[in-house]
Amino acid sequence: MKKATIKTASDIALIKYWGKKDEELRLPENGSISIKLDGLDTITTVEFDESLSADDVTIEGESNNEETARVSKHLDRVRKLAGTKVFAKVVSKNTFPKGTGLSSSGSGFAALTFAAAASLELDLSERELSILSRQGSGTACRCACGGFVEWLDGDTSETSYSVSLQNVDYWDIRDVVVVVDEGKKKISSTEGHEAARTSPFYQARLDGIQKKIGQMKQAIEQKDFMTLGSLAEKEALEFHTILLTSEVPLIAWYPGTVEVMQAVMSLREVGVPCYFTINTGFNVHVLTLPEYEKVVAEELGKLSLVKKILLAKVGPKPQGIDQHLF
Ligand code: DP6
Repeated sequence: MKKATIKTASDIALIKYWGKKDEELRLPENGSISIKLDGLDTITTVEFDESLSADDVTIEGESNNEETARVSKHLDRVRKLAGTKVFAKVVSKNTFPKGTGLSSSGSGFAALTFAAAASLELDLSERELSILSRQGSGTACRCACGGFVEWLDGDTSETSYSVSLQNVDYWDIRDVVVVVDEGKKKISSTEGHEAARTSPFYQARLDGIQKKIGQMKQAIEQKDFMTLGSLAEKEALEFHTILLTSEVPLIAWYPGTVEVMQAVMSLREVGVPCYFTINTGFNVHVLTLPEYEKVVAEELGKLSLVKKILLAKVGPKPQGIDQHLF
């Protein structure tokens, strides 16, 4: 069978996916909006091989039982569509630290889905690939598309998929990704989603989310960076309020995270347009415009608790490449 390699950009959610109405199908409680991130990429090679007696999965040079089980479960979904029981060899690597709140599961499961489908020569539409990716990891549903992406929550598997609101060339926004730690985050997003409903503020969040999604779409439509940035930053703080008030509380931030958040606010005070957003990890995404990318990276790079800076711009949809990993 064919060997296929796919490169997929990760993404940063401007409006976050938090909480699921169906755990198994990964149907989200609310829709979400993100920007794909060229520069934070996963590259995955898949080959189905009759001689294998189990899936052989290597991620970042390591094989780990828990990860292999989640990958195998996802490969089963693709195998079922293709009507095959053949196992696969999977090798995957990222250009950014995984498990640190930078959505490696999103780019990872989208790359896996696209590579497995290509390897089995399945002819699937972007919508079908988005639906399939979603079942591996929620964020992968968005990573199946390019540019500025909306994940429609939907009540059924068939209606919960992502669409590109605007393509990769629409608007040049930069993401200065500030890494304050490269160690694994303590609680996975999957565990966190389950606790969302225990926050007394969760329902209030859901009540206001439609309005927020509308405002964010309008900011994208109008290329209004200040509105986009301030909505994204407020959304990040609301999302972390849910984490902080869930049972068990999740304090995702490290001291370095807070140092960066405060520095971003100070940069704004001196006229630099930049806004932070953070997922379930401790590393910080700082959104800015191209002409300010250098100053933002330089200033945040000087902070005492910052380990390194990664630069990302708006990324494309998953792409096949010829450089196989094995
Ligand atoms: C906070 O997609 O990692 O990054 O579906 O269980 O794999 P699973 O969760 P995951 O959740 C990510 C949540 C988030 C917000 C977002 O990216 O929308």
